[in-house]
Amino acid sequence: MNVPSVLRPLASMATTSMPPSTAVRSFTTSVSHAKEIKNITVFGAGLMGAGIAQVLAHKGKYNVTLSDVTDKALSNGQTIISKSLSRIARKSMADSGAEEQEAFVKSIVDSIKVTTDPVEAVEQTDLVIEAIIENVAIKKDLFGFLDTKAPDHAIFASNTSSLSITDVAEATKRKDRFGGFHAFNPVPQMKLVEVIRTNDTSDETFDSLYEVAKRMGKTPVACVDSPGFIVNRLLVPYMFEAIRLVERGEASIQDVDTAMKLGAGYPMGPFELADLVGLDTLSHIAKGWRETRVKTGEISAEAVKESSLLEERVKEGRLGKKSGAKGGFYEYPAGK
Ligand code: CAA
Repeated sequence: MNVPSVLRPLASMATTSMPPSTAVRSFTTSVSHAKEIKNITVFGAGLMGAGIAQVLAHKGKYNVTLSDVTDKALSNGQTIISKSLSRIARKSMADSGAEEQEAFVKSIVDSIKVTTDPVEAVEQTDLVIEAIIENVAIKKDLFGFLDTKAPDHAIFASNTSSLSITDVAEATKRKDRFGGFHAFNPVPQMKLVEVIRTNDTSDETFDSLYEVAKRMGKTPVACVDSPGFIVNRLLVPYMFEAIRLVERGEASIQDVDTAMKLGAGYPMGPFELADLVGLDTLSHIAKGWRETRVKTGEISAEAVKESSLLEERVKEGRLGKKSGAKGGFYEYPAGK
């Protein structure tokens, strides 16, 4: 099997479980080129951005700045972080009193600097991780602007789950210092980060992103810049096939989920997972792939064919867990 040159084997990858036929050959002779990262800026205080900022500060002990366009978005991000840390404190500090648990939560939330000023956010940054809306033009606008404001040495990374990193990096003059850093929802719990390299990503950039993922307590895996990388390349067609199975009347939503949990050992069925990911996100990824990746032959048209069951729910604002009582494929009454 031909290994793409961008998947250059690394010393730091030796602990991962890549199959021998791919990248194991020269693990022992490769050296990590990671450079020291101290200050990290996360753009986007939604579920993903907040989760990444939280783990960078809590587990990675980095100096973290979280930036978004409004104070409301930032305070929403802080709420997400507080709730998640409280959950962690309840488990890991079960023997401590409520006051100590609250102090732990507060110390981490307070350690994350927040700002709506993008220039201030990147003034002293070593790494920018972007987790804003999945829109290539908006991401390019942000990175194009930051390219002129961030220190020259700073690495840029996108947490995009479905867009081309190569495309987004085009907006900057630092394509060698640009890569993908794809975390998973819920970030504090999911152990994986996909580190993505383009043809231009330097070894130093790739290794640095890899090291950051490890310092966050995550297991990084390497992937070339390709649609959906590893996880979404497999998960998106899987969720669409589950939806089509129900559309064809072959089984109910509940039974498909039960089947995949009990028959395949998945922690969630495909409809529960779609509700977690967000039906709008799922629809958006598939639409983007239909428009850009089907004609290149990277994704088959059948795999991401538009689904009326999905689109109807999106139109009704039933977007999944985030829509609360309205739900998506399931409903989520308050407190659930
Ligand atoms: N913050 C901190 N901890 C959290 C958390 C959060 N936001 N969410 C869950 N947890 C922790 C819980 O505290 C609990 O911890 P312990 O094991 O220490 O008890 C653990 O996770 C399990 O949580 P629960 O007991 O509440 O619930 P569960 O057992 O049903 O697990 C789940 C929930 C972790 C979400 C699990 O169902 C799961 O792994 N589901 C699959 C999720 C998945 O596939 N995510 C990827 C989505 S695709 C994606 O993200 C890519 C994209 O770009 C679209």
